[in-house]
Amino acid sequence: MEKKETQRDQWGSRFGFILAAIGSAVGLGNIWRFPYMAYENGGGAFLVPYFFALLTAGIPLLVLEMGLGHKMRGSAPLSFRKIKEKYETLGWWTVLITFVVTVYYSVIIAWAVSFVFFAFKQSWGAKPDEFFFGEYLKMTNFWKIGGIRFNVLASLALVWGLNYLILFKGIKEGIEKASKIFMPLLAVLVVLITVRGITLPGAIEGINHFLEPDFSVLKDPSVWVSAYGQVFFTLSLGFGIMIAYASYLPKKSDVVNNAFITAFGNSGFSFLAGIAIFGVLGYMAQSQGVAFKEVVTSGIGLAFIAFPKAINLLPGFNGLFGALFFLCLVVSGLSSTISLIESFSSSIMDKFQMTRKKAVTIVCGLGFLGSAIFATGMGLVILDVVDHFLNNYGLAVVGLVECILLGYFWGLPNIKKHVNGISDFKVGVWWNIAIKSVTIPILTIMLAFKFKAEV
Ligand code: PFF
Ligand code: NA
Repeated sequence: MEKKETQRDQWGSRFGFILAAIGSAVGLGNIWRFPYMAYENGGGAFLVPYFFALLTAGIPLLVLEMGLGHKMRGSAPLSFRKIKEKYETLGWWTVLITFVVTVYYSVIIAWAVSFVFFAFKQSWGAKPDEFFFGEYLKMTNFWKIGGIRFNVLASLALVWGLNYLILFKGIKEGIEKASKIFMPLLAVLVVLITVRGITLPGAIEGINHFLEPDFSVLKDPSVWVSAYGQVFFTLSLGFGIMIAYASYLPKKSDVVNNAFITAFGNSGFSFLAGIAIFGVLGYMAQSQGVAFKEVVTSGIGLAFIAFPKAINLLPGFNGLFGALFFLCLVVSGLSSTISLIESFSSSIMDKFQMTRKKAVTIVCGLGFLGSAIFATGMGLVILDVVDHFLNNYGLAVVGLVECILLGYFWGLPNIKKHVNGISDFKVGVWWNIAIKSVTIPILTIMLAFKFKAEV
């Protein structure tokens, strides 16, 4: 294992690494989760707990994961193993969860791929809900667009094929090059969508629902718990991703600064997405003459039902706007799945001294098969259950164990010394306090909350 280290793949530039890290962070969660969460939890006032959570837990944990991967030069299992042999199990648990998440995250991206094509002519018809659940998810149904016949399975093959092609090429030639295309493209897309969003009649009312602050919610502990939850999820923490990505950084790398840039880049994107989405929803409420709460949703319902309805109603070039919106989902999703898959396949490479090509082939092959099961109407039910379980427990448990192990059993000072040795911007005592006295208690409270909601 040690011998191989000299041959470890490397990012070509710091910029490439940052783009890839932001690519992992920016995903469906920024588009369909954050804006709705803000709306539900005090609008603009939600930014208070959100940024508080970002500074007291998100960024510290990001520094911790990046610092660990960089110091140990390994994926999650290898990095934990280098601390103590028996900790390796935590690494495997982490990347296994990651793999399952990838399998269903890819299904959603595949749906979005189909919807890019559907958007041009609003192939979903006048009743997008019936279309989505009734017709689209049936594998035996095919569509012909621009002479190409496809169905949900074909979209899925396309998504996994792209994942495969990118990861096969490695860090610099694959992930980094793809990120250099994806991220500028995503920036352009989100700006275009936002500009269209805010110029629609009724948009301002919608955006007011997103941003109008209700500071009374700050008294409510569940608002704070939601903010912390969103921050962990949005920064892709607890999935072994940032550990793996940082393990490919050159020896001298400003880890602390990279963590800050990643976090703020990601938040900026969420904010723009919120304006775009709520602008469109505001228009939809106005043009249908209904109350705003009738149109607002999140998740799958927002992307594949509410948005198609809104696109039907939009004035001028609505097909193009729709296609750009779904393309935005696709690109933000793909840059996240490649990081998820890399976390798992780099673990296998590290463990079994397997070549990248072999590991990626096995992982993508299995992943495609797994996704195919989820992609059907029946799989949707399983997907819901898995999603609920993983999002509620997977991340929080892993994050908590990670912080306790590193915080109490191995010593944060080791990582702190390491990151401060290579960063211009150094972490101080606040960092230890953030991990030990904020992140650990918060993750514990989060778990308790979820558990209570369950029973
Ligand atoms: N951070 C992504 C989002 O907010 O959509 C989701 C995600 C991607 C979570 C990758 C975890 C992950 F490993
Ligand atoms: Na994100």
